[in-house]
Amino acid sequence: MTAMQPDDLEADSGAGEGHDPMVERVAELADDDLAALCEAANAAIIDGGGFGWVNPQPRLSLESYFKGTLLVPERQLFVARLDGTVVGSAQLVRPARNNEARAFAAELQHSFVAPYARGHGLARNMTLRVEDAARSLGYHLLNLDVRETQRAAIALYESLGYIRWGIHPAYARVGGRTIRGIFYYKLLQHGGRIV
Ligand SMILES: CC(C)(COP(=O)(O)OP(=O)(O)OC[C@H]1O[C@@H](n2cnc3c(N)ncnc32)[C@H](O)[C@@H]1OP(=O)(O)O)[C@@H](O)C(=O)NCCC(=O)NCCS
Repeated sequence: MTAMQPDDLEADSGAGEGHDPMVERVAELADDDLAALCEAANAAIIDGGGFGWVNPQPRLSLESYFKGTLLVPERQLFVARLDGTVVGSAQLVRPARNNEARAFAAELQHSFVAPYARGHGLARNMTLRVEDAARSLGYHLLNLDVRETQRAAIALYESLGYIRWGIHPAYARVGGRTIRGIFYYKLLQHGGRIV
């Protein structure tokens, strides 16, 4: 049984009528949810849009990864469901406690939706849920970065008001090719102003 957080009661409904898309934060994953999340992750990796991974991973590696993620105090895991089945996830990453100078900024990492569940507004809703969580924890801004080949993600984040501030010329290597990375931030407080 998935452990619910208080704010899960207000899980967002996505677009995509008839498919019951929703997003929730999870603190635990039931076996069937973990299996579905691993399947979704491998489907995204095979499709070319894995979050860091380039090659499909053994089930045990992915299970360890997600179980480990749930244990890291600085990480919050959000999952996307379509008709009840977990089909994607995203993480809110809080700054390390020693990083006092950057204690106002959190990060959105590892957002993905399985190819068979795309186009229902799930990634948009996960992003908005992560923003809400970061805002309610008092963070002033959210950072994120993507490979320049991740066109859907770029369109998504720019449509949500993320500001492109830089390009890393050697961000990732996939299939022997060096790929640039695009870096974004979004101000979450004070009406989007830097104070
Ligand atoms: C990026 C990704 C998460 C989008 O997931 P999704 O659930 O299909 O996205 P949504 O349905 O919420 O779409 C929201 C917006 O994203 C953009 N978008 C989504 N798919 C798109 C596509 N194929 N081409 C262009 N824009 C796209 C659009 O702006 C869309 O808004 P619209 O429907 O009003 O046009 C998904 O394609 C994915 O997992 N890609 C691989 C991993 C990745 O790139 N992760 C992000 C970096 S960590």
